[in-house]
Parts: sequence; structure tokens; C-alpha cells
Amino acid sequence: MPRLSILLAVSCAAVVAGSAFAGGHGGNPAVKARKAHMQLYAFNLGTLGAMAKGEIEYDAGAASAAANNLAAVASLNQMAYWVPGTSSDDLPDESRALPAIWEEGSKAGEIGASFAEAAAALAAVAGDGKDAMAGAMGAVGKGCGDCHKAYRAPNN
Ligand code: HEC
Repeated sequence: MPRLSILLAVSCAAVVAGSAFAGGHGGNPAVKARKAHMQLYAFNLGTLGAMAKGEIEYDAGAASAAANNLAAVASLNQMAYWVPGTSSDDLPDESRALPAIWEEGSKAGEIGASFAEAAAALAAVAGDGKDAMAGAMGAVGKGCGDCHKAYRAPNN
């Protein structure tokens, strides 16, 4: 039995390593990871936006949860999935991340850092009422937009 479990552990590790480094069938894993990161932003900001617009009723607990998620995701270390060689030039069918992200003078890191600060500020007040939440959302939305304008290729 110990032998079997060792074998299983080894083969599972091989599957994980294979998907992380060879790309597997589903595309580049780094691109998939950063898109998933972005999808978590979009989902949580979507909840807050719907409350701000009155499409769903403001709920302090749900607003706090969504804003805390946004701030938590923004605080993740993303270095491993913004790897050189995965831009929209390198992988045109998979990525819209412009090569400028990796070029000299790129402001992507700075924009990301100030976005994370805005997300933390939103998380601090999202449960304090709809007006407080909505007031802190502008800086967050601006962070998404600033980065996309500069560093994301248009959807075409
Ligand atoms: C620091 C830069 C930066 C910030 C901040 C940022 N994004 Fe992005 N986002 C990108 C880039 C670059 C891509 C393209 C990634 C790719 O295709 O490889 C992207 C892609 C996306 C996508 C498409 C994901 C997919 O599945 O193809 C969505 C949705 C998105 N972002 C939403 C958001 C939202 C919402 C926010 C703010 C809450 C945000 N982003 C903040 C840079 C940023």
C-alpha cells in the first residue's frame, strides 16, 4: 500500500507539472491564470455595480464580501502569470495583453499597485451604506479602465 500511494503522489505531481509548464490542451496556463484573476475582479465589481445602480438592493454584508474579495485578489502576487513571452504578439489567439506591459517604462505595475490601494479603500467602507460604497467605487473602476486602455488590446 505505501508503494501505491507513492506512485499516486508521483503521478499526480507529474500531471500538475505537465499542465503548468507544457501548456496542456487548454492554452497557456499563465494566460489562463491572469484571465481567471480578471474574471474574479469582474464578478465582484459586477455585484457592487449592480447595487450602486439599484439593479439589486444594497446589502452591507454582500457589499463587504464583494469588496473584500476584490481587495484580496488585488493583493495577490501576480508575477508568475505575467511572464514575458505571453503577450498578444506572442500568443495572438489567447491573449490581449499588449507587449508594452513588459517594455521599458511600463506603468502596469504602478497602475496595479494604485488599483490595489483603491480596492482596499473600497473594502474599508463598502459595508457603511450605499453612498459610501458608491463613492469609493470610482477610483476602482478608473484603475480597471486606466490599465485596459494602456495595456489591453481592443477586442476584435
Ligand atoms: C494593472 C492592469 C490591469 C488592471 C488594474 C485591471 N486589468 Fe483587467 N486586464 C488587463 C489585461 C492586460 C488584460 C488582458 C489579459 C490577457 O488577455 O492576457 C485584462 C483582461 C481583463 C478581462 C478579460 C478576461 C478574459 O477572460 O479574457 C476582464 C473581464 C477584465 N480584465 C476585468 C477587469 C476589471 C473589472 C478590473 C478592475 C476591477 C481590471 N480588469 C483591472 C489588465 C488589467
